[in-house]
Amino acid sequence: MEALQAILSRRSTRAMSSQLPERKLIEQVIEAGRFAPSGSNSQATHFLVITNGEILNHLAELVREAFAKMEADENTYVSLRKSITASKTGKYVFHYNAPVLIVVANKKGYGNAMADSACALENMMIAANALDLGSCWINQLHWLADNDRVRAYLNTIGLEENETVTGALALGYSADGLPCRTPLERKGNPVTYICP
Ligand SMILES: Cc1cc2nc3c(=O)[nH]c(=O)nc-3n(C[C@H](O)[C@H](O)[C@H](O)COP(=O)(O)O)c2cc1C
Repeated sequence: MEALQAILSRRSTRAMSSQLPERKLIEQVIEAGRFAPSGSNSQATHFLVITNGEILNHLAELVREAFAKMEADENTYVSLRKSITASKTGKYVFHYNAPVLIVVANKKGYGNAMADSACALENMMIAANALDLGSCWINQLHWLADNDRVRAYLNTIGLEENETVTGALALGYSADGLPCRTPLERKGNPVTYICP
């Protein structure tokens, strides 16, 4: 797929098939993330690529339990409020049961941690689209970056003590086969051209 086309047709996929994409495809997505730019070329973004179903299930349970203990009101950020409300039903799975979850982390206290991670995440989403894979940015582990139980578990699977979770990407085949590529109308993101 041509580069601009891959950018303009990228959409979030939340209904995923359980089929694990072949390793070569996953690696191509990860390489796209690793080749994103970074402030001062720091290359400090860490990608934890989880394809183990037991680990994903355990993480989903920890996330569910963490949100179930929280309370939300009308001042709570809408997406966080949805996670808190849904977790109280007991059926909430934060990563939509995607067969691959790429947890993105960066150095604690590094000023470009979020910017570098976002560049990597966007590169991976575009690459996934170009490879006919669906993907979706998943923010729950970032919200729970300081939750003791979630953090302790992530430490056991490779998150370093000096790192914090900045985001995550659910990756897999869309349940519909190809990812949805119908663009959303742009009502925001204003542009001001300053003409001479
Ligand atoms: C910083 C950021 C955080 C996001 N967090 C989540 C999330 O936790 N769960 C989710 O389903 N989608 C998440 N999304 C996806 C957005 O909801 C999605 O990009 C937006 O609704 C536009 O839809 P599109 O990606 O299909 O163009 C996130 C996107 C960004 C950029």
